[in-house]
Amino acid sequence: TKIYIPRDSSALSVGAEKVAVAIAAEAKNRGLDIEIVRNGSRGLYWLETMVEVSTPNGRVAYGPVKVKDVPSLFDADFINAKPHALNLGLTEEIDWLKKQQRLTFARVGVTNPVSLDDYIAHDGYKGLKNALKLSGAEIVKAVTDSGLRGRGGAAFPTGIKWNTVLGCVSEQKYVVCNADEGDSGTYSDRMIMEGDPFVLIEGMTIAGVAVGATQGYIYLRSEYPHALVALNEAIEAANKAGYLGDDVLGSGKAFHLEVRRAAGAYVCGEETSLLESLEGKRGLVRFKPPLPAIEGLFGKPTVVNNVISLASVPIILDKGAQFYADYGMGRSRGTLPIQLAGNLKHNGLVELAFGATLRELLYDFGGGSASGKPIRAVQVGGPLGAFLPESQFDTPLDYEEFTKIWAVLGHGGIVAFDDTVDMSKMARYAFEFCAVESCGKCTPCRIGSTRGVEVIDKIRSGKDHAKNIQLVRDLSDTMLNGSLCALGGMTPYPVLSALNHFPQDFGLPAETQV
Ligand code: NAI
Ligand code: SF4
Repeated sequence: TKIYIPRDSSALSVGAEKVAVAIAAEAKNRGLDIEIVRNGSRGLYWLETMVEVSTPNGRVAYGPVKVKDVPSLFDADFINAKPHALNLGLTEEIDWLKKQQRLTFARVGVTNPVSLDDYIAHDGYKGLKNALKLSGAEIVKAVTDSGLRGRGGAAFPTGIKWNTVLGCVSEQKYVVCNADEGDSGTYSDRMIMEGDPFVLIEGMTIAGVAVGATQGYIYLRSEYPHALVALNEAIEAANKAGYLGDDVLGSGKAFHLEVRRAAGAYVCGEETSLLESLEGKRGLVRFKPPLPAIEGLFGKPTVVNNVISLASVPIILDKGAQFYADYGMGRSRGTLPIQLAGNLKHNGLVELAFGATLRELLYDFGGGSASGKPIRAVQVGGPLGAFLPESQFDTPLDYEEFTKIWAVLGHGGIVAFDDTVDMSKMARYAFEFCAVESCGKCTPCRIGSTRGVEVIDKIRSGKDHAKNIQLVRDLSDTMLNGSLCALGGMTPYPVLSALNHFPQDFGLPAETQV
């Protein structure tokens, strides 16, 4: 019998390693023949460690399993999928998973992440094989026609970015994967890299073949040691089997790939400081133009894409641009891996076509707040994303719909807060975060963030209240319009949305209109 026990960091953090050891030992003691596969996480975090058992009808899940449950699981004959208090039924039938549209995450939790054979057995490398039959321009056209937009947060059309690099004449081009996932409440990049690293490798290889780049780098967040191990194992396997290297699958095209560990600065997730860091320098933001697509890594044309953007490419080349474009709404095509976090009963990864509402995510998937109190605010899009009040929970997840309400979808992270949250503290935290993480290159961000903390403190203490409220608005205006990059430029989103939607937390009448 095959027993699946996740190797994902989230599962490891609640004891998956110990559960795996205990299950192996118990099986040995009882003389039972089992094979343990360390899979990625299915993304139902409240049920980790979720252990699955293969049966002829599909896998049966048990969770959350703790070491102390292991003997009773064996007593109940769980390896033959028999009933037990932790039995969750067939994994695929779990409502939370059944309601999703998993395209990018199709294999995560299903396969052995570092087995190339398993990847190929689950439709892996079909996209690359199709791509190798096409010209660079045809691959780029497929990505453009799919409607895929940058999943790091900026939502820039991926095909147009690739087209700029394709159009550059250069003896060397690069593909750089931004895996410096730094937004609070986000983990989809990590889950892909730990749970299905080959899909990222395949996506990067397709990008390289498309634009004529022969070298790729994955700039990996230093706090992701398990992703590093999985990526390196997968890259080694791909190299050995000819899916990477001097002659990718006999095509005569070369693509080499290496992982570089980031140094732990939030701003290095900004693409130009990332490139500086990759070149071995301090992570300072560069002026744009020139765009990285034209003068990127070591001054050469470079595709810089987020993990999820690149990991979404294989299915587009496998099933066709139209297949992908058929999902979504408006100009937001395809699916978005949404990450639920904060004060919710059920946190985890939900991949859905664009268009689902926040309310569906918070209540149908999230199950409402973990504390049982009303959800008062959610922050969408990381620490630089706006706070949304309950009156905006019916907003569909769509880049343009979010822009209309002065919010951002960002990297798809949703963090929920109940009615005990003090929004003036959250606004203070946004300025503080910016002050800590600022690269220091421009004044609105470097100085403004520190002054912002001070002004919020004055507002909270009631000192010169009206004057300081106006000062926060003026300062936000300067940061919005005068910052060089999104770190300083977006800090006003959480600050002003907190002030505008929750004025009573800043000592203003609740009905204050802005
Ligand atoms: P941007 O709007 O300046 O650029 C978007 C991308 O398009 C860049 O890669 C840029 O080089 C490229 N581009 C623009 N015009 C192009 C052209 N003609 N040809 C080729 N490429 C072109 O946005 P930026 O500063 O890269 O990203 C800001 C976003 O990052 C924010 O919206 C925020 O949501 C997100 N973010 C994500 C984080 C994460 O952890 N994933 C953390 C912090 C912010
Ligand atoms: Fe650096 Fe902040 Fe200016 Fe960005 S906005 S360049 S992080 S100082």
